Amino acid sequence: MDGNAAADRFLAIADRRMIDNAIAELRSSFVDAESEVVCADGSIGVIGVKSKKMTSMPIDRISKALTFSYMVFHEWTIIESPYDKDRITSSITDLLNGRINPTFMIEAKVVEANVGTNAKSIEVEIGMMVEENGFSASLTAPDLHIFLIVSATRTAIGYSGVLDYPGPMDPFRVANANPENELNRAELKFREAVDFFDIDIMKWHTAIDVGAAPGGWTAALSRMMCRVVAVDSAVLDYDNLYARKTLVLYSGNSDDLEKYKGKRGIDLVDFSGITKPLSAYLEEYDVVHLKANMGSPTKNFDDYLLQLKDVDAVVIDSNMDPEKNAEMAVRLSGTMKRNGALLMAIKLMDNDVQKHMDDAKAALSGSFGGIRVKKLHYNRMELSLMAVKA
Ligand SMILES: C[S@@+](CC[C@H](N)C(=O)[O-])C[C@H]1O[C@@H](n2cnc3c(N)ncnc32)[C@H](O)[C@@H]1O
Repeated sequence: MDGNAAADRFLAIADRRMIDNAIAELRSSFVDAESEVVCADGSIGVIGVKSKKMTSMPIDRISKALTFSYMVFHEWTIIESPYDKDRITSSITDLLNGRINPTFMIEAKVVEANVGTNAKSIEVEIGMMVEENGFSASLTAPDLHIFLIVSATRTAIGYSGVLDYPGPMDPFRVANANPENELNRAELKFREAVDFFDIDIMKWHTAIDVGAAPGGWTAALSRMMCRVVAVDSAVLDYDNLYARKTLVLYSGNSDDLEKYKGKRGIDLVDFSGITKPLSAYLEEYDVVHLKANMGSPTKNFDDYLLQLKDVDAVVIDSNMDPEKNAEMAVRLSGTMKRNGALLMAIKLMDNDVQKHMDDAKAALSGSFGGIRVKKLHYNRMELSLMAVKA
């Protein structure tokens, strides 16, 4: 029988490029943790962890406490052979047999190209075989999530109960998911960050969104009735911002705004013709787009922006290096309320993840407290950082 779960064995999932950081973090967070790489390829690293200390914490709390492992679940078994549907089915059946009539969902990930099948086919094939053994699949609210990580030489089987399953459905695919009702994938990433960091954005009245184009984060904020100053030299997808009234303040060449000229609900104003402070425009408009990059030669835009006061949140997703994003956050901290929130992407320009994270934290530490960093499911070559204005 393959079923041989030990309560002190877990599988942790990290981005392949951050696997060393994830292992170091597991060892420092749980002093008794022994870990080894189960398998890894271009995008994913699977770490087997043995730790008695981890058994005293619910799985969702373990996941929350870790920066680099974006999922942790119980290890059921590791089958040391190429993809073998009969052994996998029998092992999952053993797992389910020990429980009172649970519904299950299988989430598969194929690691390495030469497995000869794909994740979707595995989910369907194994799911049907397990159903033939008398168990019911549920694709919406399963009692048990079963994770299959299939490499060319082994299959790791893990599971998580409904109460401590912290992730989205399709956890291995979301990073590449196409949004259905959102403006773009960035909006999904923003929502995951808001959930993960327990941010009550219903309380936000005004926010500054730097690196806003094409507008996913601005749209997410606007949906929650938060007024937004969006900063980016690129145009936003103004038609899909959930704003009744949008003001675009631009300077110089405005060819890329041509199609919005005369459109209802969108006012385009040359920056040289403005008559009011930004706070006054924010009373009138749901979204004000300053069409310039922060720190760009049109310095007047920065000065104009920095006059704002009592902003509830600053969110930064600009694709600059983390130190530059942190510098912008510090400059903008003067516009924020005490205890206002900072949500910032840490884009990883190279593999020196720890250094980028440490540098960004050090730059922020004079103006912000409560800094937390997490690799979210929707983050690709980046981490998400949350902090509170000191
Ligand atoms: C990944 S995109 C942002 C996606 C956006 N958050 C969304 O939800 O659609 C990065 C953006 O950062 C902008 N950017 C880069 N440097 C910037 C700066 N100094 N100030 C403002 N925006 C900047 C780029 O023009 C680009 O549009």
